[in-house]
Amino acid sequence: MSAAPPMLAVENLTAGHGPVTVIDGLSLAVGAREAVALLGPNGAGKSTLVMAIAGTLRSRTGRVDFAGRNLIDLPPHAIVAMGVAVVPEGRRIFAPLSVLDNLHLGAIRLPAARGRIGERYESVFALFPRLAERRQQRAGTLSGGEQQMLAIGRALMSAPTMILLDEPFLGLAPKIVDEILATLHVLRRAGLTVLLVEQKTELALNFCDRAYVMQKGRIVREGSAAALAGDPALSADYFALPAGGPG
Ligand SMILES: Nc1ncnc2c1ncn2[C@@H]1O[C@H](COP(=O)(O)OP(=O)(O)OP(=O)(O)O)[C@@H](O)[C@H]1O
Ligand SMILES: [Mg+2]
Repeated sequence: MSAAPPMLAVENLTAGHGPVTVIDGLSLAVGAREAVALLGPNGAGKSTLVMAIAGTLRSRTGRVDFAGRNLIDLPPHAIVAMGVAVVPEGRRIFAPLSVLDNLHLGAIRLPAARGRIGERYESVFALFPRLAERRQQRAGTLSGGEQQMLAIGRALMSAPTMILLDEPFLGLAPKIVDEILATLHVLRRAGLTVLLVEQKTELALNFCDRAYVMQKGRIVREGSAAALAGDPALSADYFALPAGGPG
């Protein structure tokens, strides 16, 4: 990393659900315009970490600095307003609402300075033409891939500078995965900073610059995507191994 301060710096973060501590003294950093993968098996705490950064999980201590400001005491909408958007695990779209109304939910606290809502819709529709064609359709009747596009589009409605994507490709056909990846590449080239939670090591390391590997609430490995891609300990079946992994 360069000497410039990272865009996102998580320091000594502890977070959990009720009395259960899931994240225990975790630190990581993401530089401006970087794409960083967060890898790890089921139950490692990846989604808990995303929720702790986004403020949707309130039970947390430590520091989450974004663009030089500690987010730890801010509510989720204030974190969105600062430029951090989340595409949650499982998409969490609102099935009875239309595509347009789901998108609107991503912009309800949009600071006026970040653009007019009509322009935000148009930029999302330019990225995802399938959503444009289906703008009046009930979200619950969209295909799985279209629902994931909607979840990403909703996050983009807040004109974020950083996006946290929690397993966005889960259950999608390879063709749709490629389509969404192509759109994420466009967003990267436009300067968006990305934290991608993913269990498919190869996919994540192909897309990202760097990666962290998480196990049992801690970072157990980190490095450039190139270095980790050549790490035999991170072979395709790594996450199928018993908790603790190799070594
Ligand atoms: N709402 C909750 N209440 C209690 N415990 C929870 C809750 N959500 C998650 N946990 C626990 O926290 C731990 C980490 O879960 P988390 O969902 O963050 O893992 P993950 O790495 O995202 O897993 P996956 O890859 O399956 O999505 C697990 O032991 C899980 O049982
Ligand atoms: Mg998860």
